[in-house]
Amino acid sequence: MNTFTLKGTFLDTPAPDTLRVREGYLLCENGLCAGFSETAPAGVEVLDYTGKIITPGLVDLHLHAPQYSYCGTAMDLELLDWLQQYTYPEEAHYADPAYARLGYSYFVRDLKNSATTRACIFATLHTDATLELMHQLRGAGLSAFVGKLGMDRNSPDSYREPSAAAGLAETRRWLDTCRAENTLHAGPVRPMITPRFTPSTSDEYMRGLGELAREYNVPAQSHLSENPGEIAWVAELCPGTKFYGESYSRYGLFGGGVPTVMAHCIYSPDDEAALMKQNRVMIAHCPTSNENVIAGIAPAAHYLRGGWRVGLGSDVAGGQTLDLFTVMATAVQVSKLRWRYIDQSEKPLTMVEALYMATVGGGDFWADFGEKVGLFEDGYAFDALVLDDDPLKNMRAFSAAERLERYAYLGKGKLTAKFAAGEKLL
Ligand code: GUN
Ligand code: FE
Repeated sequence: MNTFTLKGTFLDTPAPDTLRVREGYLLCENGLCAGFSETAPAGVEVLDYTGKIITPGLVDLHLHAPQYSYCGTAMDLELLDWLQQYTYPEEAHYADPAYARLGYSYFVRDLKNSATTRACIFATLHTDATLELMHQLRGAGLSAFVGKLGMDRNSPDSYREPSAAAGLAETRRWLDTCRAENTLHAGPVRPMITPRFTPSTSDEYMRGLGELAREYNVPAQSHLSENPGEIAWVAELCPGTKFYGESYSRYGLFGGGVPTVMAHCIYSPDDEAALMKQNRVMIAHCPTSNENVIAGIAPAAHYLRGGWRVGLGSDVAGGQTLDLFTVMATAVQVSKLRWRYIDQSEKPLTMVEALYMATVGGGDFWADFGEKVGLFEDGYAFDALVLDDDPLKNMRAFSAAERLERYAYLGKGKLTAKFAAGEKLL
């Protein structure tokens, strides 16, 4: 693999409230960061980005690849109606391999061109289309966990698996194919058990998915406590559970032995949040989506400062953009609305905390699989973004921290270069 150094102004966040700014050279060896120095190491190629700011690659902890086709539209409904009217009809098209190949080609092209280097992605319930997405992501040099969805209830016949048994058989076929392709536990693109959310996944199916997660030793992801109507529905569907998260935890799909990402966690009651912390469940905070489907404002500052594991998600196409810099800015903005309207016990998030969540916070999921992600320190994956903020320049001399803020808020900068695990993707 390539050995080279990057030269520029490096920004990363060793702690949630700490922005580290360093001028110099970062060495890449075997896809990993292998030393930072203020002078050029001898005998190594230098990629010179003097004057540019360089951040770690951003981690999108939650998004839906098949929804990318209608991204930026369908903005007029709350979650449950939005799913029935827009999401399920579109995702159903991915039964057609040609449609899936084309739809995912646009998604993967644009994800590759984005600031995202790693992601946890929902596909559809179709096994073959999910494999197609995994192949395309691998071809693009991105790192991802990808989920074939489990859905056997509460959606139209055209987009529902006929039974729990049929869905579990397909899930097994998918995992066996990954094993045959040597991607079950190795390589940049791996499978993740994905019950869509409790309203879509019967108890029998959920139980079986928990068993498969343990049998195949793969992680899990789903949605949690996103919308008041959804939460009330889960309470009806799952009598005897004390909180929504128990509909997953009772089948072993809530952290603990199975590394788990839960998207949203906006309305999690204290006992649910306590179990999330105890089981090291990763929270995917998705503020752009939460605005668009009128879900609410998650207590992200409380989670981050209180010791929960939390990263950011674009949740495309609930979220209107793949751009995690926009998601970072929105996280800060909605945390202010939360402080003003809902809860003054936590100060709003800062941009530095937003960068932390988008890098170290989300990157921590890969730690469960032995990879260090999110910092420019030795042994961490060499995931880096070179940001060109020349279009934002004016007569003022901005600090590096201000340049990051402006890049995120103004949306007019340009991603000049992108490295994922030491490979130059852009
Ligand atoms: N809950 C279940 N499915 C979805 C989805 O596709 N998007 C969002 N935002 N929430 C969900
Ligand atoms: Fe989602």
